[in-house]
Amino acid sequence: MAAFRSRVGGLAYGGDYNPEQWDPAVWREDVRLMREAGVNVVSLGVFAWASLEPEPGTYAFGWLDEVMDLLHGNGIAVNLATPTAAPPVWLTQLHPEVFPIMADGEPFGFGSRLHYDPSSPIYRRYAAAITTKLAERYSYHPALAMWHISNEYGPTAYNPASSVAFREWLRRRYGSLDALNEAWTTRFWGQVYTSWEQIEVPNIPRSWSNPARRLDFKRFTSDALLECFVAERDIVRSFRDDIPVMTNFMRFYRHADYWRWAPEEDAVALDIYPDPADPSSHISAAFQYDLFRSLKGGQPWMLMEQAASAVSQWKLNVVKEPGRMLLGSLQALSRGADSVMFFQWRASRGGQERLHSAMLPHSGPSSRTFREVVELGRELRLLSGVAGTSSRADVAILFDWNGWWGLEETYGLPRNDFSYADTVMRHYTPLWREHVPLDVVSASSDLSPYKVLIVPNAYLIDDVGVSGIQEFARNGGTVIMSFFSGVVDSCNRVRPDGYPGAFRELIGAKIDEYWPARPAETFTVEFTDGRVTTSTWWREDLHLETGKPLAVYQDGLLSGRAAVVENTFGSGRVVYFATLLEESAFGEVLVDAVREAGVESPFAGVPSHVECTIRGDKYLFLLNHSADEPTTVPLTFAGIDLLTGAEVAEEITLAPLGATVIEIGGGKSGPQPDDRTTRIASGASL
Ligand code: GAL
Repeated sequence: MAAFRSRVGGLAYGGDYNPEQWDPAVWREDVRLMREAGVNVVSLGVFAWASLEPEPGTYAFGWLDEVMDLLHGNGIAVNLATPTAAPPVWLTQLHPEVFPIMADGEPFGFGSRLHYDPSSPIYRRYAAAITTKLAERYSYHPALAMWHISNEYGPTAYNPASSVAFREWLRRRYGSLDALNEAWTTRFWGQVYTSWEQIEVPNIPRSWSNPARRLDFKRFTSDALLECFVAERDIVRSFRDDIPVMTNFMRFYRHADYWRWAPEEDAVALDIYPDPADPSSHISAAFQYDLFRSLKGGQPWMLMEQAASAVSQWKLNVVKEPGRMLLGSLQALSRGADSVMFFQWRASRGGQERLHSAMLPHSGPSSRTFREVVELGRELRLLSGVAGTSSRADVAILFDWNGWWGLEETYGLPRNDFSYADTVMRHYTPLWREHVPLDVVSASSDLSPYKVLIVPNAYLIDDVGVSGIQEFARNGGTVIMSFFSGVVDSCNRVRPDGYPGAFRELIGAKIDEYWPARPAETFTVEFTDGRVTTSTWWREDLHLETGKPLAVYQDGLLSGRAAVVENTFGSGRVVYFATLLEESAFGEVLVDAVREAGVESPFAGVPSHVECTIRGDKYLFLLNHSADEPTTVPLTFAGIDLLTGAEVAEEITLAPLGATVIEIGGGKSGPQPDDRTTRIASGASL
């Protein structure tokens, strides 16, 4: 990635480029306007399989040769895609079995994209062939700077070929049928298998299926997709191994375990479309950015796609008003992105996404969007020093795909309407509002760098995760955990000796029963410090052992019993929420627990609509998410506003949706680096 960074001169800027939809005269105008905008890299050929191989084994590379040369001649690097997300129609007609069969038993059909069964040996053979041809031809083309393998890996398939591959995957995982029968508890409802050939993918849409089988099917599907990525990656690497290889991920994407994928890539990349009509979409975006920074242990990641203005896939597609696109782009940089890229460079005239915005919209270079695109290009050049830098937080939040699947994919829980994404955001948001930096961790991450670990609704967690959390607390960490955690093992089997089997000692309490609330039922909860609030949705019939109540119910059958527990475990502290507290009260208690663990935001007192982030110890990003209010932020140090070049000290005013980046201490009168680190870390307000 360092070579890639130096090649693009810092931050990468550009988007998906689909010249196959246009005639060559347009390509020349594209390149001229790309230069005007400061574009330095494009993702090329993402869905171009049909244009590259119009018939089986007949290739048409002439147009791509010309475009690669043209881009290179104009100093624009290429992130070359393997086009395998969109198999051509001839392939599906020759081999209809490559279509994924959906959960309802019907094949996906032709005319969209992602219409392949990842386990199909036929699909894999053809995908390898086109990848090999591309790599043969372009590996040493001077424009090539990165490989973009396929696009947004995603299909879940229920094909006969999926069953064959599933069996192989299960054999590798369990070794013997006895072990599988045990892991899946197949004596329940008489499902015992006596030969591997009896095992199918769980394609029974008319009923619920075995929860361990479902869980393994999720794991298998993620791995099958990953195998497709790895196969193509290995092909391109076999020609040349100094070009970074990645693929683009999605936000809150449940069907691929990105913790398993990230180590296989040179960088992780995210496509994200925060909805301008949703007043909290920037907070959810911030979480994704923290996740992506964390997926490869703090290494910079790539913002691979965002919209220049409106999208077209929802019922209501609101524009990004002036400034919002710039603001969102800087937000991604503030949390570790080394690129700002879009879907797509030029708006398509036809096709499904003909009204999706683009860097160069239908209204052309005189449009507002294009002016903002040119401005963004200018700003990114000014911010090139940010590239390659990172940051590390004191607080970590667990985000685990297995836990997600356990809560949402396997049914049979006390309530079956959990949303893992919502619960994670409920824990993340109060800290975001207080400008407390967070990293995201998996169940097997090293927790030793952190002071606080947040564990939202970890119903299913494996033994490694359990002992990691216990060890963390024992060594003095603060664990903040919410209800229905530590219930089952990695095979979805209830852990022995009562709830919460994994965490009884950790939380200092035993739970007799989980008590989901009736619709609209609320409970009064009083804290030991006198604060009174309400809770809803969930309660636990909890019996304290070593734990102490932090809050108790004031009404209902659990009146007088603990609703929030604190416990000492080793030299650590545990705060356990056994109910869903009203949101602002929950936020206060959570933030208090983080403060008590010695974590202070350097930006305490700055209104929460101004997002404050420090990247690389010296770049302070200030982002005003209010579309109405200009906001003045006090500064306790001098620095340089990198976007205007002005020296700033004492305070800075941000326009509505305004953003800036200050190089701390960059001014003549600014403090020396050591001073500024100390001042920020010691909690000086801005
Ligand atoms: C992404 C996809 C792009 C484009 C974009 C806008 O998910 O990778 O090809 O479809 O969404 O909808």
